[in-house]
Amino acid sequence: MKLKDWCDLNRKFFTESDFRYLINTNFSFESCFETSTVFLSDENVVFLNRVLDRYRNGEPLAYILGKEEFYGLEFKVNPDVLIPRKETELIVEYCIDLIQSRKFVKVLDLCCGSAVIAITVKKMTAMALNLTAADISEKALAVASENSQKHNQNIRFVASDLYSALEGEKFDLIISNPPYVKTGQIEGSLKFEPIIALDGGFDGLFFIRRILAESLIFLNPSSCLVIEIGYDQRLEVIELASKYGYDIIGWVKDYSQHFRGIVLRLKETKNQ
Ligand SMILES: C[S@@+](CC[C@H](N)C(=O)[O-])C[C@H]1O[C@@H](n2cnc3c(N)ncnc32)[C@H](O)[C@@H]1O
Repeated sequence: MKLKDWCDLNRKFFTESDFRYLINTNFSFESCFETSTVFLSDENVVFLNRVLDRYRNGEPLAYILGKEEFYGLEFKVNPDVLIPRKETELIVEYCIDLIQSRKFVKVLDLCCGSAVIAITVKKMTAMALNLTAADISEKALAVASENSQKHNQNIRFVASDLYSALEGEKFDLIISNPPYVKTGQIEGSLKFEPIIALDGGFDGLFFIRRILAESLIFLNPSSCLVIEIGYDQRLEVIELASKYGYDIIGWVKDYSQHFRGIVLRLKETKNQ
């Protein structure tokens, strides 16, 4: 069977970006449409049909392929970790600028999952960053560690319930993409992802509240805390940030112009 024929038959079952990723990472995408000369081996056909069956059953392509692209880099993913999202790339981009402009050195990726944030920040800043990545899930940390080896980045991984294993430490920059989905909204393809990576309690704010309350003593006076939030959590998070004694110094918006990352520092009075 020609690759072009398989594509013509089955393209409609995929989102366009998933389809392109599937074909691009396994074959040359152009060869599928520009020419009709690429023939699939029997093995190729079995592979593609298996992917199609699982995909049509609702399973995310990243878990089927065991990998996902983030910030132009390839990361291992499996059902022990969240599949990295586009909005997180925008937060990483903001943090890279922050690190470079403020000459930050000690950085923490809190709730690191597959460690896409830690690894990308370290790789892209090309600075001598001292990077720690923490997660409560040992299974997630195993994936994170594999990813750091794959990208040859030296990162300290810590198994920790938020800051429990980091007592006495201070950071220049703390970045966190915590679980923030409301318990009642974990549905559809989210069901394939680890509940521990998603569930932010009845209002989605359980971990954001905890991070705001617990981060104060881990920040240096001029340090920053950047937290990813849900597209509809802005007003509640503004209120919480003020309650716990932070100044908001920036926002990261997603491609739909929703406020998805809050950038904080300690209020001036707390620095004295
Ligand atoms: C939304 S995922 C983010 C993963 C990754 N940072 C990313 O952006 O793709 C949240 C992560 O928080 C971790 N987590 C959940 N509860 C935690 C806790 N109490 N302390 C530390 N990490 C926790 C989960 O295991 C999961 O890996």
